[in-house]
Amino acid sequence: MKLFLDSAHLPDIEYGLETGLIEGITTNPTHLSKEGEKSTELLKKICALMMPHDVSIEVTEKNALDVYNQAHRIADLAENVVVKIPCMPDYVPVIKKLVIEGIAVNITLLFSVVQGLLMAKLGVKYISPFVGRLDDIDTNGIELIQDLKKIKNIYNFKTEILAASLRGPLHVHQAAMAGADCATVPPALFKLLLHHPLSEKGVLLFDQDWKKLNMQTFP
Ligand code: G3P
Repeated sequence: MKLFLDSAHLPDIEYGLETGLIEGITTNPTHLSKEGEKSTELLKKICALMMPHDVSIEVTEKNALDVYNQAHRIADLAENVVVKIPCMPDYVPVIKKLVIEGIAVNITLLFSVVQGLLMAKLGVKYISPFVGRLDDIDTNGIELIQDLKKIKNIYNFKTEILAASLRGPLHVHQAAMAGADCATVPPALFKLLLHHPLSEKGVLLFDQDWKKLNMQTFP
């Protein structure tokens, strides 16, 4: 499972790259609204930093024709751009056209298996089921990932399942067990993933025992 960072915050993206664990970025209008820099310039910087890994950038227009034209402007920002488009009926012809034109598309705000199936039939690069937001309304978000994976295997579709709206390490664990192709995580969650209290306790215990030897140099 590839790990993406769900952020438009440059220092977090730089840290993610340094770790060697982050293989893509997903952004959305909420992330961009939190950054002071001009969004277009910031996104160009992120794309350059992440090359050749994918950077998802979301459309903000509402009317289908405007979405289509904006998708092209977004795709022109860099070679590694993936255009993020909400899963809405009005946008289906636009999505189909963009796919035919060779634009990489990530379908966001996806909440059901049938939405996923239909978007995969259009040939998009990614579908992004929102796990946490389903949990928020008392619906099991991880089951959606599991079901999408089953459908992917049955029909052998190429579209990648990008688990999004993940809120904690258990979501990442369950998305991996369900066979998600990618998981996008906010920076705070990314930093949490490697922590385990027993690892930290173990380091302390080894250190205490080692100090009993009172060695100045080793080896
Ligand atoms: O990738 C989608 C993500 O940004 C949404 O997360 O926590 O706002 O549901 P959340």
